[in-house]
Amino acid sequence: MFKLSIDGRIVDASPGANVLDVALANGIEIPHLCYHPELSVSGGCRLCLVEVEGRPEPTTACGLACAEGMEIRTQSEQLTAMRRAIIDLFVSDHPLDCVTCDKAGSCLLQKYAYEYGVTETSHEKIIARTLYQDDNPFFIRDHQYCILCGRCTRVCEEIVGASAIEIVGRGFESHVATPFDGPMIDSSCVFCGSCVQVCPTAALLPVSRLGKGREWEMDRVKSICGYCGVGCEIEYARKNGDIVYAQATPDGPVNGEFLCSKGRYGWDFVSHPDRLTHPLMRRDVAYELGLTDDPWELPTESPLAVENPQIEDSFVPVEWDTAYDLIAERLAHTVQNYGPDAVMGLSSARCTNEENYLFQKFMRAGIGTNNVDHCARL
Ligand code: SF4
Ligand code: SF4
Ligand code: SF4
Ligand code: FES
Repeated sequence: MFKLSIDGRIVDASPGANVLDVALANGIEIPHLCYHPELSVSGGCRLCLVEVEGRPEPTTACGLACAEGMEIRTQSEQLTAMRRAIIDLFVSDHPLDCVTCDKAGSCLLQKYAYEYGVTETSHEKIIARTLYQDDNPFFIRDHQYCILCGRCTRVCEEIVGASAIEIVGRGFESHVATPFDGPMIDSSCVFCGSCVQVCPTAALLPVSRLGKGREWEMDRVKSICGYCGVGCEIEYARKNGDIVYAQATPDGPVNGEFLCSKGRYGWDFVSHPDRLTHPLMRRDVAYELGLTDDPWELPTESPLAVENPQIEDSFVPVEWDTAYDLIAERLAHTVQNYGPDAVMGLSSARCTNEENYLFQKFMRAGIGTNNVDHCARL
């Protein structure tokens, strides 16, 4: 560790740290678009310019390694003018649709244009990229909003390892593309949505959120993904109680800002009408217990042979306590009459580690059997 000064504040830095990271970690805001702490430095947007004592010209903070005794200034008239000029260039080929844009409220370009008072470009306005691609069910690519920051291509190569996209072309022809500009489905994309997560503008957006509400109308609920035992943290953006989209947050202890396709896009079961929200008891058992007046007999033929079986014919919804009482009674009866090894317990990868621990404890110490397994092995 050594010390340097940023805007007159003495801060600690470790060897190899860049000035932007150290400033942000100390609550000193420096505008940045292409930089992302999990990705390599590209230095493409030039927005994070700072002044360094002893150097004649401003330099980018993301590409500047900290050094002992360094003196950095993040604010000055010169820096403000340079940043405004850069934002001016960005908006010269960017439609300022913020009043209707789904990204408004979380868009970094909008944030910096507001902070630096850039309401329109002073250059001739040319929207060079007009391609709109909705070639997959998960996210759209609307190239007119792309600022070519390269975050998406770097995350795809460096974190995901898929290398499905690259910036191709020169000048106004430049754009993010799959090989030969083909549909996403024909590329090596695994639809993890990491590119959507790190995109600072509306160039990449989840399909589920298009026209579904503004950022400030949504509340955020954190949860743990239920698909596997890794336990990734997910943040659900909800409007009126309905999930609009899912993302990961930088402070997720397991996964940081990254998720797989299941966690990011596979949440529609939450409000699906087929989802079971209460226990169901087989109708013949419920009839025996006096919980229903409708008798029912087990079909003699295989359930697979019964066409269009109605779940209501075979099962009756019951209270949780009723279901637990029946399970406890039947388990005790089986153990008493046939021994503990007549019982087998199968747990789920969709439970938490703690739930699976408790389940095996229940089987071993409660029932008295080692017949316990886990669906991920099947
Ligand atoms: S991407 Fe950002 S700057 Fe562009 S229209 Fe949408 S909110 Fe505005
Ligand atoms: S969804 Fe994932 S794999 Fe596909 S382009 Fe984006 S980052 Fe790459
Ligand atoms: S699609 Fe988004 S992340 Fe990728 S280069 Fe364009 S603005 Fe940057
Ligand atoms: S954030 Fe440093 S150059 Fe883009």
